[in-house]
Amino acid sequence: MGDKNGTKITILGAGNVGASVAYTFAVAGTCSDVVLVDINKAKAKGEAMDIRQGVSFGHNVEIYDGTYEDAAGSDIVVVTLGLARKPGQTRLDLAQTNVNIIKEVMPQVARYAPDAIYVVVSNPVDILTYTILKCTDLKPNQVIGSGTALDTSRLRSIIADHVGLSPNSIHAYVFGEHGDSSFIPWSIMNIAGVPVDEYCADQEHADLDEEEIIDEVRKAGAEVIKRKGATFYAIAMSVNKICDSILRDSNNIITVSTMMNGRYGISDICLSLPAVIGSNGIEREVSPKLTDEEVAKLQASAQALRSVIDQLEF
Ligand SMILES: NC(=O)c1ccc[n+]([C@@H]2O[C@H](COP(=O)([O-])OP(=O)(O)OC[C@H]3O[C@@H](n4cnc5c(N)ncnc54)[C@H](O)[C@@H]3O)[C@@H](O)[C@H]2O)c1
Repeated sequence: MGDKNGTKITILGAGNVGASVAYTFAVAGTCSDVVLVDINKAKAKGEAMDIRQGVSFGHNVEIYDGTYEDAAGSDIVVVTLGLARKPGQTRLDLAQTNVNIIKEVMPQVARYAPDAIYVVVSNPVDILTYTILKCTDLKPNQVIGSGTALDTSRLRSIIADHVGLSPNSIHAYVFGEHGDSSFIPWSIMNIAGVPVDEYCADQEHADLDEEEIIDEVRKAGAEVIKRKGATFYAIAMSVNKICDSILRDSNNIITVSTMMNGRYGISDICLSLPAVIGSNGIEREVSPKLTDEEVAKLQASAQALRSVIDQLEF
């Protein structure tokens, strides 16, 4: 099965996120072939069947279930597999469980798809992006954690609602860990080149409170989970944007989690900063000038991730 002349994406994990990513690819016509792989084979097959049965109304996307071996020939492998936190389990215990799954699965998949670009979504995403780079021979440009792509989108929506503009017109970012130590580099946030605080003052919008907004961004996922049990649509749209940028070589700048190699004095940690995404995965890094306080926040975020890494077995 599969069209060798087309574009192929394998999705590992056909749970809420994996299935939503597959559906988004089908609706958007992102690629020609999608393979869903899950240890729950019936779930992967059922999700593939459900989407395939609607394809006659949309783009010509072939969707099927498969095994790790079917990752061969993929342009992109999206990693959404893993376990959710059980009652009483700590975040650290969960991190070790998912690190162990990644260590078992990813060397096998990387052997079948050594040239693919890997887009990692499973949590803790910065730690698992790091794990994949450590347990395979994949190169740093090939392994992209979705990182704060979603947090950045959440931030843009919050600011957009506040000032009555489209989120596309808000140039704002979330940097650092996809988690509690993330932060907003406020000094570079702008609307059409106007610093956001100045824009608010000019347009008579109430002042934005930095602490309130980062708190809202950090809790945004939990607020959704509280109401519907999981988050999957917004992350699926984030992943679709990253994959579309890779397949079209469109050089979009997205905040994604990558291996740090001395940027802002940080090394041997994956966290999110702006990167140019194209057919080689990470094409270039973009390192905006930050204030001393923002650099300290980034380094604190790296330190938080380092302390988790130091407690895990790789
Ligand atoms: N990075 C982000 O912004 C973001 C956003 C939402 C969710 N997530 C993360 O994405 C992951 C998936 O979330 P979900 O809601 O889809 O969870 P889910 O439990 O619905 O799906 C996970 C799937 O992985 C499968 N799986 C487990 N081990 C496997 C293995 N060894 N091989 C193949 N499949 C395996 C399970 O059978 C299950 O179907 C979680 O880690 C979640 O925290 C990340």
